[in-house]
Amino acid sequence: MKPPGEEPIVKVRTVEDLMEMAHGYQRSMVLFAAMDLGVFSALAGGPSDAASLARRLCADPRRLAILLNALVGVGLLGKKGKGYRNGEIANRFLADGPASKASILLHHLNCWTEWTRLPHTVRAGGKRPGRKKGYQENFIRGMEDNARERAAIVAARIPLRKGERVLDLGGGPGTYAVEWAKRYPGARLTVFDTPETLAVTRKILEEKGASRLVALREGDFMRERLGGPFDFIWISQILHAYSEKECRFLLRKARRATAPGGRVAVQEFLLKAGGTSPPGPAFFSVHMVAVTEGGKAYTAAEIASLFRLSGFRKVSAGRPDARGVGVVTARP
Ligand SMILES: C[S@@+](CC[C@H](N)C(=O)[O-])C[C@H]1O[C@@H](n2cnc3c(N)ncnc32)[C@H](O)[C@@H]1O
Repeated sequence: MKPPGEEPIVKVRTVEDLMEMAHGYQRSMVLFAAMDLGVFSALAGGPSDAASLARRLCADPRRLAILLNALVGVGLLGKKGKGYRNGEIANRFLADGPASKASILLHHLNCWTEWTRLPHTVRAGGKRPGRKKGYQENFIRGMEDNARERAAIVAARIPLRKGERVLDLGGGPGTYAVEWAKRYPGARLTVFDTPETLAVTRKILEEKGASRLVALREGDFMRERLGGPFDFIWISQILHAYSEKECRFLLRKARRATAPGGRVAVQEFLLKAGGTSPPGPAFFSVHMVAVTEGGKAYTAAEIASLFRLSGFRKVSAGRPDARGVGVVTARP
């Protein structure tokens, strides 16, 4: 029997399953196209027919109506007469609002070109296509969409002491740092990330009224000093973008930046031994092949080994959540 909370595994068992898998990209693009056009945000204000929606979205009414019908087919929209309305999931997660997943979905749309080159990348690697304008904005806001709920869980599980100096390395939107800063006002949080990312982070912090809660440090963590010493270094969803050699280099830097008695924690989409499951991390690993030079999803044992090879001791791994996200902690 499947352990409770584990991600369901959808297996290809019949030719119908096979065709379903092959057509999966069409469902994705119907959703992404509707996001890109602004369908769900436009319908958040109330139902509309295709013609008036097309005028608002500067779209072709005939083609838009066909797209809207497909969205009704998958349950994202409802239809009564000629009027289309958002379904509950669309209103909550696809229109603007506090639970919106719009940025992470638009980020996946931005990665589409890289995915279409996957056969070439697997064969030969090589030069990647340039990134679209707005890429970083959707990427970093998408990280906030992904981390919103998880950050509260992590901050509750990893309490901080008064005066503790914490580095959120590659902290992106600062979701974790802000959550810790709110819960443990005595701790001192720093988010280290690239200038390009922190330009987006500043906007997010301002929108959340959290600009004063965390310090921002700009730089490339592969080239520049991390600063410190820090009592706790949090490295969330970073290692998967780098090769094992690069991960060891980064973890050695983290070890040098850790104060005596301090700790470092890595959070990742964790694969099980063998690398074939859970399906979320297994597909995420392919995503890393598509969008990075040397990245992949790691197993908890691989991360523990990276820690040890970088001079850490007392390595321990927590149980991953239903999406396969887990934390491995170590001390120098
Ligand atoms: C996948 S996001 C994770 C964000 C955040 N840690 C989280 O878990 O929500 C990776 C972050 O690492 C940053 N990053 C990647 N390589 C970096 C580098 N060499 N120097 C500084 N930041 C880097 C990216 O800008 C991005 O914000």
